[in-house]
Amino acid sequence: MSHKQSEYMHWAKTSQRARYNLATSGVGAFPLRDLPFDLAKLEINGDNSYGYRPLTEAIAAHNGVDPDCVVEAAGTSFANHLAMAALLEPGDDVLIEHPTYGPLLDAALYLDATVTRFARTPESGYAVDPAAVERALTPRTRLIVITNLHNPSSALTSEAVLSEVGGLARNAGAHVLVDEVYLDAVYANTPRTSFYLGPEFVVASSLTKVYGVSGIRCGWILARPELAWRMRRLNDLFGATPVHPGEILGVAAFEHLPMLRERARRIVEADRANLRAFLERRGECSLRWGTTHFLPVGNGDAFATRLRTEFETSVVPGRFFEMPDYVRIGMGVDSEMFAEGLRRLEQALTPSR
Ligand SMILES: Cc1ncc(COP(=O)(O)O)c(C=O)c1O
Repeated sequence: MSHKQSEYMHWAKTSQRARYNLATSGVGAFPLRDLPFDLAKLEINGDNSYGYRPLTEAIAAHNGVDPDCVVEAAGTSFANHLAMAALLEPGDDVLIEHPTYGPLLDAALYLDATVTRFARTPESGYAVDPAAVERALTPRTRLIVITNLHNPSSALTSEAVLSEVGGLARNAGAHVLVDEVYLDAVYANTPRTSFYLGPEFVVASSLTKVYGVSGIRCGWILARPELAWRMRRLNDLFGATPVHPGEILGVAAFEHLPMLRERARRIVEADRANLRAFLERRGECSLRWGTTHFLPVGNGDAFATRLRTEFETSVVPGRFFEMPDYVRIGMGVDSEMFAEGLRRLEQALTPSR
């Protein structure tokens, strides 16, 4: 029987919450009342058979691509799933970074692909090493999967490195799926999407994590037009058509994206300054962007349990990223909560005398 669930997603939905929640991965919720939007414009039904044109155009403009390359999807979760479903056949090899976001592995396994791995090591700052990718390719590799920014570490992969990986994929007859859900959390000189790097690139992203509007599930895939069309046809078997009120709110979110971005930036940068000071006190390297950080703590499960029971603070145990000696810390929800949660985490890490 094929793999049919995600342990991480289940944990995130049922066990993440705590008084001081550092187990998040995205920016805190942006309230509808703060969005300059005339509710009289909301409609239940609309012309969206293969995408709602105003939203497709807004996504295309945001990414600087042709609307024919845009496939609407319910969040990056479904974008990843639909992209993999279109690109993989049972028994194909899919080469996925390690560590990675668990549901990427779950989706590949659900599709009966064979998952192979290449390492992004803590020693290298979780860099993507094209030589490691090349060594891990097999004659059956049809897809290489990378998160950029990297979840859990927030490491940024440069265009040069991604291009090298693209070259390897092209020679192997494979695609590269880049999950860019956190890319816009690089607030200065934000990199452009890797979709530009070649026809083998397929990108999954959304407004869910960096802009605080997860509830409207505004996500997308970027793919060359013929492949994008195949994905739209495949979606006829899944969601068929998107939720139209969500599409309208997606258009409104794009219209006010600079405002959403500025609000998010303020919270994330305040939290990051706090986290940076904490890391410097520990003699660990500083972090420059993103909403998550991966921290070595010894036994991640034991630490996360003690942190929750004795300090009312939650973090994500590293086992969900197949690195059980770590925990992941999330920024961007509420700076007061973050500061207090971090203070408690530091206390929990301090050996008692
Ligand atoms: C790398 C990565 N991709 C996708 C998702 C899911 O995003 P969405 O809420 O848009 O479905 C997450 C959520 O944590 C993520 O970390």
